[in-house]
Amino acid sequence: MEIKIKHGKIDAEKCEVLALFVPTRNGKIVPAISTSHDNEIHRLHELRDFTGASEEIAWLYPTEGNAKRVLICGLGGAASIETESLQQAVGRIVQTTRKSGASSLCLAFDSLPSGELSVNRKTQLAVEALLLANYQFTKYKSNQDGKEKPLRSAMILVTDKADLVSAQDGARLGEIVAKWTCVARDLQNTPANDLTPRHFAEIAREKSRQVGLRCKVFDQKGIAQLKMGALLGVGQGSVNEPRFIILEHKPARRAGGAIVFVGKGITFDTGGISIKQSDNLDTMKYDMSGAATVLAAVGALAELGTPLHVVGLMPCAENMPGGRAQRPGDVVRACNGKTIEVADTDAEGRLILADALAYAHRYKPEAVIDLATLTGAVYVALGTTAAGLFGKNETLLNSIKKAASATGERVWELPLFKEYFDAMKSEVADIRNIPSKSTGGGSSTAAAFLATFAEGYPWAHLDIAAVAHPKEDKPITPKGGSGWGVRLLVQFCRDKLERGS
Ligand code: BES
Ligand code: MN
Ligand code: ZN
Repeated sequence: MEIKIKHGKIDAEKCEVLALFVPTRNGKIVPAISTSHDNEIHRLHELRDFTGASEEIAWLYPTEGNAKRVLICGLGGAASIETESLQQAVGRIVQTTRKSGASSLCLAFDSLPSGELSVNRKTQLAVEALLLANYQFTKYKSNQDGKEKPLRSAMILVTDKADLVSAQDGARLGEIVAKWTCVARDLQNTPANDLTPRHFAEIAREKSRQVGLRCKVFDQKGIAQLKMGALLGVGQGSVNEPRFIILEHKPARRAGGAIVFVGKGITFDTGGISIKQSDNLDTMKYDMSGAATVLAAVGALAELGTPLHVVGLMPCAENMPGGRAQRPGDVVRACNGKTIEVADTDAEGRLILADALAYAHRYKPEAVIDLATLTGAVYVALGTTAAGLFGKNETLLNSIKKAASATGERVWELPLFKEYFDAMKSEVADIRNIPSKSTGGGSSTAAAFLATFAEGYPWAHLDIAAVAHPKEDKPITPKGGSGWGVRLLVQFCRDKLERGS
């Protein structure tokens, strides 16, 4: 979708669909600006055909003026507009416009109450929402039957010329972040036969070239030379060999030390010899979501020219049973020399992350954040509303929480009590990959395992198993791969720059 920021008068703009935001206060409609549609909006409100509740939507068909149709969208009665309500409203507008068959949209931006968000920020959020809501995955559809046509263009209309530059600035940021979020979604949605570790590495290479990122790929031999026995073990059951991918954004002028993102890249998780049941097994193509988000976030930061040293580590493997697969009970050695008893081959994510987290140490990082579709248990704990957040460094956890509330990609901290570490003790190796007794708290024991390999630097872990691929359409995240975390990681880096620490 092409997006334009334009300076102009709302009533003068010729368009297929004009979208107006309608705020309310104490049950009354209080438009932020006046337009030739005010009377009609009030009439709908009197008839209770439109109350102005958040995300409520109604069509107007003006007989005069320059807009063929007008779409009014409620914002609810909150005192100030927030990230989430703004983006949900824009998402709803995109969906409704698309259903109408129209292919273009004009957002009357000044109908948004100014509130606490700057013009720059408001535009960023609106552009993100436009692009994220318009996303469809149609690569494998021979025709578009049963699919709505995506919007071709959208315009954001700004009435005050003084706002134009900051709006354009915000739009550029929003466009880059949303575009890379959709790169992550495409990777997630691609079936595992077309996205093996090798394919993942090829795409990482190609995307890196586009934005001037350094990309280094280790194949099976290279992984063996790195002594990453845990990653090798997970990958050994598949004919599709594992890869270890490093993306590095290292601008000449930069602030601070390295920030390392680590993403779980299991291109398909059958469970291995500890094989999974077959219901919903198809969703295990999403088990590379962490790696997809890391690739996209580093890509976005490079394209934005963010003056920080950012590294993305993506261990990728296919977890398959077979004659060469690792067995429950095997002992593998990670690249930091620690041995792991693989008591369950289905707890494979933590194995490949163990090697990547140990590898991260060589960057002397200021912060390491890993993202992984790690446990089914996080769905039980938090549902699809928030990712599980783990770590022991309060400063790092707080900055992740802050970035999360700024972006609407919610996180919720879960504990790392000593008991979770105790449960992972092994009789034959340094550590087991699943608890020795059934303890419950599966997300925390998994995180405790990771913590053992994330030594010597501030670290946080995000369990994204429940947020990576929602089963229902939401206004800005159609069902399927969500690209969860791209906005959060970019925001985290931008906040870090602003703080200067
Ligand atoms: N990829 C799964 C986690 C998962 C489960 C993601 C359901 C999305 C939906 C992970 O590799 C796994 O199999 N975890 C096991 C761990 C267990 C063997 C300790 C789990 O959660 O059941
Ligand atoms: Mn598994
Ligand atoms: Zn997995």
